[in-house]
Amino acid sequence: MNKKITAATAAGLMASAIARCSNAGCSNHGPTARDSTPATLPVVVERTRAATMEITPAPDSNRHPHTTPGGVHTAVNTNRKEEPNMHTRTLGQGLQVSAIGLGCMGMSMGYGPNPGDRQAMMGVLRGAVDIGITFFDTAEVYGPFVNEELVGEALAPVRERVVIATKFGMKIDNGKVLGLDSTPERIRQVADESLRRLRVDTLDLFYQHRVDPNVPIEDVAGAVGELIQAGKVRHFGLSEASAATIRAAHAVQPVTAVQSEYSLWTRDPEPEVLPTLAELGIGFVPFSPLGKGFLTGSVTSSTTFSDGDVRATIPRFTAENRAANQALVDHIGNLATSKQATTGQIALAWLLAQQPWIVPIPGTRRRERVEENAASTTIALSADELADLDALAARVGVQGDRYNEHHMALVGR
Ligand SMILES: NC(=O)c1ccc[n+]([C@@H]2O[C@H](COP(=O)([O-])OP(=O)(O)OC[C@H]3O[C@@H](n4cnc5c(N)ncnc54)[C@H](OP(=O)(O)O)[C@@H]3O)[C@@H](O)[C@H]2O)c1
Repeated sequence: MNKKITAATAAGLMASAIARCSNAGCSNHGPTARDSTPATLPVVVERTRAATMEITPAPDSNRHPHTTPGGVHTAVNTNRKEEPNMHTRTLGQGLQVSAIGLGCMGMSMGYGPNPGDRQAMMGVLRGAVDIGITFFDTAEVYGPFVNEELVGEALAPVRERVVIATKFGMKIDNGKVLGLDSTPERIRQVADESLRRLRVDTLDLFYQHRVDPNVPIEDVAGAVGELIQAGKVRHFGLSEASAATIRAAHAVQPVTAVQSEYSLWTRDPEPEVLPTLAELGIGFVPFSPLGKGFLTGSVTSSTTFSDGDVRATIPRFTAENRAANQALVDHIGNLATSKQATTGQIALAWLLAQQPWIVPIPGTRRRERVEENAASTTIALSADELADLDALAARVGVQGDRYNEHHMALVGR
């Protein structure tokens, strides 16, 4: 396994860690430093940019309600005796999850043939729970349907210990995705079907997958609000929505999390979405936090994508653009080497350092990579290292869009 900070620390990660919550106003976390924390453990990277870089705290209007100025918001859940102590973060509306989640999509689509059979994927999911991951990401459309079934079956025995997020908003007929559909009746239908496939009584977090221009967002929020009233859904989320849409939805039904692509080479949420979330107290869940694998260094210009690998259709992943973008990943790799970490761990640690209410969901179908990715929470980046990484994409340049034209038209609305 290509790493130095590994599973040994991963089990510790989430399981050990330094418990700090300087947010006196937060009812979820008390001051929880654990006496048993070994002094030699690396400092957990949970720090706000303000804390890390010692810059002036954001004005009140920009401050996340769960963040003290320059403070950190980190906790280890010591309440559940039967589980490993977990290193957690809090999204909006008090939803507490492990600081790193697991993206499950790749187990059913997007990255070509699986490295193992269905049983092996169940093992990956359960192995994630074993090391303290409690946040799992799926969607009706992944497969379609079979990903929810897989996640539901794998996590049924540990249902009470996990938060399962799923998504609605697609029109699906005969297994084919035909477009968007966020009409209230479709939302209700998807909720019922997802409840059944996931084998749960309540959907923990129900995201709109893409904003549907044919349905006012207020109607979508209202429909999810009714499902919350009915006890079928606990939390409302949005994916790839604009700041204006987030604000309008939140006014009808408080939003817990927004999920959009965000990573060292995809910075779209920074100018408008992240400040809006900070102001409204909504959590952020970066998808494709490893740049669909590119930011781990495991994809190069000579990589051949197999049938069913979505990267074959993405401009950023043409052989020419991969070659041009290699300088970016090489730079991250050099920093990783100097810190005895892996390239992917640096990419995740950078995301974790942006805000304490950011929870990346790297996707993998391999148990050892689940552990490697989870251990990114143990990597501390200095102010200089963060500043260097912040400026990297602009300095080196990123060639190619993150989606093809069709999919680009569906984001940011
Ligand atoms: N809301 C949305 O519209 C949306 C869109 C896309 C994704 N998502 C969600 O976000 C999750 C994550 O995004 P993603 O899977 O697209 O991208 P990602 O997490 O950035 O990257 C996944 C890729 O990286 C590889 N990988 C993972 N860990 C690695 C490691 N430590 N070393 C080397 N390679 C590694 C995986 O391969 P292996 O599987 O072979 O390890 C896979 O090819 C998805 O699973 C899905 O749940 C949501």
